[in-house]
Amino acid sequence: MQISFAAPQTVGAGAWVVAALEGSVLTAAAQKADMASGGAIGRGLKVSKFTGKSGQTLEILAPAGLKASRILLVGLGKPGEFDGAKAENLAAAVSSRVGGAGDAAVTFEIDVPKGSKLKPADLAAHLALGVRLKSYAFNHYRTKNLDEYEQHLKTVTIATPSAGDAKKSWAGLEPIADGMFFARDLVNEPPNVLYPAEFARRVKANLGKLGVKVDVLGEAEMKKLGMNLLLGVGQGSEKDSQLVVMRWDGARKKKDAPVAFVGKGVCFDSGGLSLKSGGGMMGMKGDMGGAAAVVGTMQALATRKARVNAVGVIGLVENMPDGTAMRPDDVINSMSGQTVEVLNTDAEGRLVLADALTYTQRTYKPRFVIDLATLTGAIIAALGPEYAGLFSNDDKLSNRIADAGKAVGEPVWRLPMGPAYDKLIRSKIADMKNIGGAHGGSITAAQFLQRFIEDKTPWAHLDIAGVAWQDGEHKALAPSWGTGWGVRILNELVAAHYEE
Ligand code: BES
Ligand code: MN
Ligand code: ZN
Repeated sequence: MQISFAAPQTVGAGAWVVAALEGSVLTAAAQKADMASGGAIGRGLKVSKFTGKSGQTLEILAPAGLKASRILLVGLGKPGEFDGAKAENLAAAVSSRVGGAGDAAVTFEIDVPKGSKLKPADLAAHLALGVRLKSYAFNHYRTKNLDEYEQHLKTVTIATPSAGDAKKSWAGLEPIADGMFFARDLVNEPPNVLYPAEFARRVKANLGKLGVKVDVLGEAEMKKLGMNLLLGVGQGSEKDSQLVVMRWDGARKKKDAPVAFVGKGVCFDSGGLSLKSGGGMMGMKGDMGGAAAVVGTMQALATRKARVNAVGVIGLVENMPDGTAMRPDDVINSMSGQTVEVLNTDAEGRLVLADALTYTQRTYKPRFVIDLATLTGAIIAALGPEYAGLFSNDDKLSNRIADAGKAVGEPVWRLPMGPAYDKLIRSKIADMKNIGGAHGGSITAAQFLQRFIEDKTPWAHLDIAGVAWQDGEHKALAPSWGTGWGVRILNELVAAHYEE
């Protein structure tokens, strides 16, 4: 699919998308389309319920006097409420609809409504982003009926009075889409294909060429560092565990402390000896969604040459049961020196993260560290598929993350932490146990992670179990499964506060 920006001109074949505001007020382009079609829009408005509300559409097929297959009048709603996110959702919905109807081309000619804060160039770029994000498909393993899955839509033209500026604005957004697509690919890949070493290989291949330094630590190196928690999780698997370290030094001062992102990369979570049920195991190829988000973010930062020093660290393991597997009741010495009584091998993500967090803090002394993980089923019970859970020891960082999420449509909700919750992970024989009680499971998981935060490093943990993938297509900008959640919010956080 090709997306381009151009000054408005006579629309040829394909769909022509124009807009109206609430109260059926036609924008200039819509008036033009009405005239060109001999008043078809005006007649259509009289016989339909369309009022210009956000999300409404009015379709005129084969309009007389035009080459266009259809005119699609879309509602923008109230001008003051029309923003980049609304533009993205509109473009996503319209492009999949006209593509599904068989159109090969579509022209968006949406004027910025008076009263909206959007600049024309940014509106154009957000329309492009909506189309692009929705166009993602993962058909790698289909061998049959390929025509059924083929994209009909080939040419997308965004008509805008400021095509040059739109291209520049798009240059800041397209890397985000690319980073999200890489993250989606990683999440969607089946676990027999994407095991830790293969994941590491793909990161090296894709990010290396963008100027990201990628180092891969194998089991022997991690053993030397004392990363026994991470290694313990991978112990029952035939596949070797890996720690992948990505560095993007984009700031003018290469020595400045970096921002750091840490991801849970459990390529498959069977639960280990605390084996999951058959149903509970389904979808656990996606348990590396945190790692995928970190990789996608590093890719986006490098592609748009962000002026920031950033480090990404992902712990890649497969959690499997085996004669050599870690047992419930084992006590393990972590890289930090603290001991952990493992009472449930299915609470493995926190073990992987703990050593990865220690490694990241000790090696890089970062300005802050944010970890992302599909950590608990409990966060899905609490927040469902809309919000990710946010936990933090730092109000400033926490607020910045929440604002970034709101700005880009990846909202987060902060949950409480504190000593009363921390008590719940006290162990009878070791420094801590890896599970809490029956309740507050997402919080006790966060308390566990906090025990590995050193010297008051500003830290935040995002529990993304509910948002890393979706069954069905309830999210407007993503097709079924891997969403790429995390790339946008982290990129926005960096862009808003941490670039020179
Ligand atoms: N990867 C799971 C969490 C998960 C569950 C993610 C469902 C996405 C969908 C995690 O490793 C896990 O198994 N957590 C346990 C923790 C419990 C044993 C304390 C859980 O949530 O049940
Ligand atoms: Mn688990
Ligand atoms: Zn897991």
